[in-house]
Amino acid sequence: MKPKHIIESQQFNVPFITELFASAQRMEKTAAKGGTQDYNNKIMASLFYEPSTRTRFSFETAMHRLGGRILSTENAQEFSSAIRGESLEDTIKVISHFVDAIVLRHNEIGGAKRAAEVSSVPVINAGDGKGGQHPTQALTDLFTIYKEIKTIEGLNIALVGDLAQGRTVRSLAYLLSKYERVKIFFVAPEKLQIHEDICKHLEENEIWFTKENDLRKIIGEVDVVYQTRIEKENLKVTESEYEKIMESFYIDSKMMQKLKQSAIVMHPLPRLKEISPEVDTDKRSAYFRQAQNSIYIRMALLASVMEG
Ligand code: CP
Repeated sequence: MKPKHIIESQQFNVPFITELFASAQRMEKTAAKGGTQDYNNKIMASLFYEPSTRTRFSFETAMHRLGGRILSTENAQEFSSAIRGESLEDTIKVISHFVDAIVLRHNEIGGAKRAAEVSSVPVINAGDGKGGQHPTQALTDLFTIYKEIKTIEGLNIALVGDLAQGRTVRSLAYLLSKYERVKIFFVAPEKLQIHEDICKHLEENEIWFTKENDLRKIIGEVDVVYQTRIEKENLKVTESEYEKIMESFYIDSKMMQKLKQSAIVMHPLPRLKEISPEVDTDKRSAYFRQAQNSIYIRMALLASVMEG
């Protein structure tokens, strides 16, 4: 069943994800040849109320590779009528009559859902609020695991960093809950641990999980380390306290020695200091391949929603 809008990870099932991955693999071949003109009569609006490098550029690249056209605002809080007090709903009602799909990053949790309720064309959630969701990033992440390790079932996966506010982690946890025998290690400082809504969802779906506060303790047990940013401001600690806490989470050459040879390190990016650049050349560091995979997943998603 093809969804009209892409709003949250809970809306997908495994057959849809499997078909999306097959489409993304075809899109990778299409992109390698420079793209297609199949969607040259389609227009996508990218409407970003929050900063972005990867998500906006990769959606726009994906649309170009499909042969489509783009309307874009990268700072909609200032460069749209939002600054004059226009509601999100009014903006979407207007733009949805101009284009064939809207890619929206909004600063409030639920922004994409509100937009979808009033839009006449598909809305794709490109991240909504702190602690909301980022489902197209999570589909990219899952696709990367599938490409790198050839399976998702039975994997041990560490989700690390600011799990309280990280929308990519929340969306990925919902996706992982659809797969058999997955084990999830939530690794975070206590203040930034995963919220109860996700734990409850995992319990309901009989997914094994544990909460840890030191990556060093479990890194040798996992197949995937999914690292995310920990911002000092969110911990509300001094610089020296922050450095001390981060010793349990930094991935550097020493930490990589504890990681299985068959395991991978991922990060949705941007990173701060939580992964040292010295490990970028390690073949297990998959984060730049992960960013590239986002093009193929987004080409497949755009094709899916624009075909109707
Ligand atoms: N991964 C991600 O969402 O990055 P941006 O904030 O740069 O889009």
